[in-house]
Amino acid sequence: MTNAPQFIDLPDYQELPIEEMLRRAQTFSREMQRRRTVREFSSRPVAREVIEHCLQAAASAPSGANLQPWRFVVVTDPATKRKIRLAAEAEERDFYERRAPREWLDVLAVLGTDANKPFLEIAPYLIVVLRTTHEVRPDGSIVKQYYSAESVGIATGLLLTALHVAGLATLTHTPSPMHFLNQILNRPSHERPFLIVVAGYPAPGAKVPAIARKHLEEIVTWHQP
Ligand SMILES: Cc1cc2nc3c(=O)[nH]c(=O)nc-3n(C[C@H](O)[C@H](O)[C@H](O)COP(=O)(O)O)c2cc1C
Repeated sequence: MTNAPQFIDLPDYQELPIEEMLRRAQTFSREMQRRRTVREFSSRPVAREVIEHCLQAAASAPSGANLQPWRFVVVTDPATKRKIRLAAEAEERDFYERRAPREWLDVLAVLGTDANKPFLEIAPYLIVVLRTTHEVRPDGSIVKQYYSAESVGIATGLLLTALHVAGLATLTHTPSPMHFLNQILNRPSHERPFLIVVAGYPAPGAKVPAIARKHLEEIVTWHQP
């Protein structure tokens, strides 16, 4: 009976006094309000161990049926970064000049983005997040994935959070389509590129668009039956 459940104690659970709970929730919320997507990076190196810890945090994400359908390819070498930049810029040029519907360009306008993606070469780390559509067991049998997009989205959120808390700047980048990453990174077709997390120090004097977040009243309803 290999699939019979076995249980262990909840690891290191510690209940907090309400004051401490409040303090931590507020401190973390304040920290996360400071996170911004950065598009101007410094080429200053960042210790690999920092990135490893952040990936470990990402890999702690919950996932549908614990299938952990994420893969992370960490790119640091200049030649591969250049290939990714050139391929991404080709897709992005086609997007901005031909494929993008007017309404999409309208909502992008406030960000001031265009088809040029120098950060793909300048930032020290490109973390390519992939989503597996199925897993191939060593015996060749196939395990289908459930809720893989939701699971990888949550893992990516944890990765961005960990990188931010570690004091790094990030950019969530989604050149579309992204099949070129399978080819450049030599990944099988059941690993679908999900997005690229660009990480590093912000460039000195980096600017970000002056955009606002929705107020809680707009996005949260405390349901009353
Ligand atoms: C799924 C996803 C895809 C994104 N793709 C891009 C992208 O391709 N290029 C880019 O410059 N920003 C991209 N962004 C960043 C958003 O534009 C950014 O998160 C948004 O404008 C809010 O700004 P903030 O992150 O500074 O709060 C993406 C964000 C998400 C969550």
